[in-house]
Formats: sequence, C-alpha cells, structure tokens
Amino acid sequence: MTLSVKLLGTGSFVPERVLANADFERMVDTSDEWIMSRTGIRERHVLSEGEKNSDMAVQAGYNALQSAHVAPGEVDQIIVCTFTPDMPLPSCACVVQSRLDAENAFAIDLSAACTGYIGGLTYGAAMIRSGMAKRVLVIASEALSRVTDYQDRGTCVLFGDGAGAAVLGSGDAGHAIGDFYLRADGSGAEQLCVPAGGSAMPASATTVSERLHFIKMNGREVFKFAVTKMIELIEGAAERAGIKPADIDVVIPHQVNQRIIQAAIERLEMRQEQFFCNLEKYGNTSAASTAIALDEAARQGRIQKGNTVVMAAFGAGFTWGSATLKW
Ligand code: ACO
Repeated sequence: MTLSVKLLGTGSFVPERVLANADFERMVDTSDEWIMSRTGIRERHVLSEGEKNSDMAVQAGYNALQSAHVAPGEVDQIIVCTFTPDMPLPSCACVVQSRLDAENAFAIDLSAACTGYIGGLTYGAAMIRSGMAKRVLVIASEALSRVTDYQDRGTCVLFGDGAGAAVLGSGDAGHAIGDFYLRADGSGAEQLCVPAGGSAMPASATTVSERLHFIKMNGREVFKFAVTKMIELIEGAAERAGIKPADIDVVIPHQVNQRIIQAAIERLEMRQEQFFCNLEKYGNTSAASTAIALDEAARQGRIQKGNTVVMAAFGAGFTWGSATLKW
C-alpha cells in the first residue's frame, strides 16, 4: 500500500549578523551597484564567531515541529541537507537529533548542495510512502560563510547562512507533496567545488595557504547551467501536472541570482509575481534557500489553499531537482 505524503509544517531560522553590500566594498574591489545589478542581493545573514551550523538547524527544526504540532519523540527520521556540517564526523543530523531530544529517530546528512532540500524531501517522502516512517523531519541548513573566500569578489558577495525545515507525514492534515524529480551530472564537478578537506586533498599547510578550503566557482559556466535547468525543471513539473508554466500559482526557485530567475520568467512566458523571491535579504544559502523561501511564502500568506506550488533547485555536482505541492 502506498501512502500519500503530506507536508505538516515548516520552519526557518537565520543568524542575527548581517553583511550588507557596503560591507563588501571594504573587503574586495566591488560596489553595491555591481552586486545589486548583477545578482539582486542586498544583504545576507552570516554566523557570528562561535556559532555553528547545528545552531541554525536545531532552531529551524524546532520551528517546523511546532508548526506541525509534532513532538520530537514522534520523529522516526531526521535528514539534514547540508555540505557544511559542524564537523566531518559525526553527521550534523546526529548533533541535531541529540539537541532536539528526538529519541526515536535515525539521523543522516544528505549532501547535494543547493538541490539538497529537494533531495531530502524526496527521500523523506519515500520513507513515508513505503510505511518505513510516520514522521520525517527534513532540515536544510548551510553555514556557507565558513567556506566562503572573502578575498574572492566573484563568489563572496553571493552566499549567506540559514536554515529551513519541514515535517512530513501522512493522513488528512497538511499539504500534499509529490512529483519529485531529481538528476545529477558529476562531470560538472570542477565548475563549483571546495577542492580540499576531503580524501583527495586532505588538509595541509599548503591547502590552507592556497585557500583551497573555500568555494571555487566558474561563475559564467554555472550561470548557463542554472538558467537551462531552471527552465527545464519548471517546464517539466508543469507538464507532469498537466498545466502550463503560466498556470503555476507559486514557484519557489533556488534563491540564486535575480538575473537567472528573470531569464526563466522571460523564456517560459511567466509573470514575476508567480515567483517568490527573498534572495535580496539572504543571498544564496544553498540547500537552505528553497526551504527558507517555502516557509516565508507560507507564513506571509503568499501561498493560498488550493495553490499549485513548484519548487526548483540546482547546484554543485551538478545536481538539480523539483518538487510539487498542492496547498
Ligand atoms: N564586483 C565587481 N566586479 C566583479 C565581481 C564583484 N563582486 N565579481 C566579478 N566581477 C567582475 C569579474 O571579475 C569580471 O571582470 P573582468 O571582465 O574584468 O574579468 C566582470 O565582473 C564580469 O564577470 P562575470 O563573471 O561575467 O560576471 P557576471 O555578470 O556573470 O556575474 C556572477 C557573476 C554573479 C557570479 C554570475 O556569473 C552568476 O551568478 N553565476 C552563477 C552563480 C551561481 O548560480 N552559483 C551558485 C549555484 S549553486 C551553489 O551555490 C552551491
């Protein structure tokens, strides 16, 4: 028997500290005008010294559990979507499990960069559908400021920290979630990566002095990939739902760059107001981006009962994916 999957509640959290565009003018050769016109980002939240990824993940997870009226002890599975855990071992999810007192849960991390949240929702939904879990807490949480090179103007202005979460279950309550679509193409790995710190290039004095523990990105190639995938994902989700892109009520796109979103809007003959965007406030928070945006859109009343909502994300790997909700 397959069970229909419901999104029972959402939550999010961003750290207090804000880096505005003017702050970058003091770090690298850039300007507020360049950043706004090329990306649409005005500010981003970042961790302060001593704070860590799990602090955000726990708070977002707690907020999602509250909104879903689910107690931590009822959760069977915690999935934390991240590539910036507190430490390589153990997983960020185990830290979160302990701090939430989710005593009946298994806990794992899922690493799929900006597509992580869609991946986490997909695997969580599969566990509910198969009957292997009754309640799954999916948290997407990224501490990108910890792997951002604040000497590289081509990347440092883009990224921010934050976390978003959802509780999945089954039954009559909640919003239906399904039509998951996930793909990867690892041949694009070098276009966007953190070269050192893994088994290929363990940490050494050289990797540190050469700044290889930070994100390296070929911005132009990633831009082309991002536009193509944003279009394909939205078109595909609409087709499978039997509607046109112009009929989707709300698109929650990966909050990456206003120009990428604009290119998709024009190509798909959609309208700006169909897209929920908050990248101006948070920058690109990788896996957390669609999770925070979904939570904010729901809380602001931007999503109404009966709405068809399409989430679309893409990122390092390369990876890309979509999920559709009926609110
Ligand atoms: N301030 C001022 N000038 C800059 C800055 C900056 N912050 N960054 C780059 N430039 C310069 C470049 O050095 C270049 O100068 P040059 O012509 O003298 O060499 C010039 O601006 C144009 O560079 P482009 O790379 O062509 O700039 P573009 O308009 O493409 O914008 C950007 C760069 C914003 C990075 C864009 O390529 C982009 O958004 N790419 C996709 C990024 C993305 O989606 N990343 C995340 C995906 S998934 C994940 O995050 C994990």
